[in-house]
Amino acid sequence: MFARRTDWNLSTNRYSLALEKARRDGRTLLDLTASNPTTVGLSFEGERILRSLQHPRALEYEPASKGILSAREAVSSYYAARGIELLPEQIILTVSTSEAYSYCFRLLCDPGDEVLVPSPSYPLFEFLADIQDVKLVPYELVYDQGWQIEFESLARAITPRSKAIMVVNPNNPTGHFTRAWELERLNGLCGVHELALVADEVFLDYGLTDEQPMSFASNEGALTFTLSGLSKICALPQIKVAWIAASGPKALVKAALDRLDVIADTYLSPNAPVQWAIPELLETRGEIQHQLRERALRNLRELDMQLAAAKMTTRLALDAGWYAVLRIPATRSDEDVAIELLEREGVLIHPGHFFDFPGAGYLVVSLIAPEENFREGISRVLRAIDAQH
Ligand SMILES: Cc1ncc(COP(=O)(O)O)c(C=O)c1O
Repeated sequence: MFARRTDWNLSTNRYSLALEKARRDGRTLLDLTASNPTTVGLSFEGERILRSLQHPRALEYEPASKGILSAREAVSSYYAARGIELLPEQIILTVSTSEAYSYCFRLLCDPGDEVLVPSPSYPLFEFLADIQDVKLVPYELVYDQGWQIEFESLARAITPRSKAIMVVNPNNPTGHFTRAWELERLNGLCGVHELALVADEVFLDYGLTDEQPMSFASNEGALTFTLSGLSKICALPQIKVAWIAASGPKALVKAALDRLDVIADTYLSPNAPVQWAIPELLETRGEIQHQLRERALRNLRELDMQLAAAKMTTRLALDAGWYAVLRIPATRSDEDVAIELLEREGVLIHPGHFFDFPGAGYLVVSLIAPEENFREGISRVLRAIDAQH
């Protein structure tokens, strides 16, 4: 009856089963995975956000394939604030970064074509690729004091069916962002193998050190699709606004935009009230980003203070984003460790294998979790890991 592409293993994993049981038993849990920005106690400009959704023009239906102009101009201004000139014509609105990925996959890939994806990384890509009949081929990020792209692994992963290299900049969960030398090498590979770049920049504004991430939106060295949206920029995932910004060699960009225009015109996804609200919503970003950055930095300081007294746990260096990666002894699977922390300590934590870390010994924590929960949760985790060794 059903297409093979949807023949997923949908059985609940052991960790989710343990979580369901803990919830059924009514246990109070300390959630170190909390990363929904609307439920971690931040202070939003609620009235302003709701008012922005009442634009009178939203009563008219004016279909615009790439999205209404004022919204795309506001996205251009977002890049202009970083010194990047992007014309509204180079921007296509979508309802989510996930939808933006699907447009890019549809534009670039025939069934069975390949897209190179960083590992470790965010786990949603697999389903996105399955739905679009695209094959994901991992390339490695390596850790040595900090993360970087392992270019030999990337070059090895390229085949005649490769169509694009995906980059998550900054990466979730490693917190690494792409440096100029890496971009140069990526452009070189794209040139030789006729590949496009797809850069997911939802965490671009969340640099946590003095060095700020650079955007791919100004990249001219290869056909580049930069994806971002309000889910992280304005901490408003429920509003469902994202975009694709195309840059690179002029003729390629034009051909890509002409085709993307047709894809977007076929769906006309983003709704009018939200599109009219985009300029105002983008203006709320400074205040909420400030709160998130302060939260992440305070939690990171707390983590480092507690790690200084811990025997068996360290953390990996990070540059940006909402997550930190803990390194623990690789004596058992991450899943076993995470289940034990849930059952014995009442702490929810992501096992590294969710993100395809190489082997055991990694746990991922959200730096935007409420501070009291974070402090107590980390303290229980570090105590439990020390006690086991
Ligand atoms: C790297 C990355 N890209 C994209 C998304 C999803 O963005 P959206 O809500 O716009 O689909 C997430 C969500 O956590 C993410 O971590």
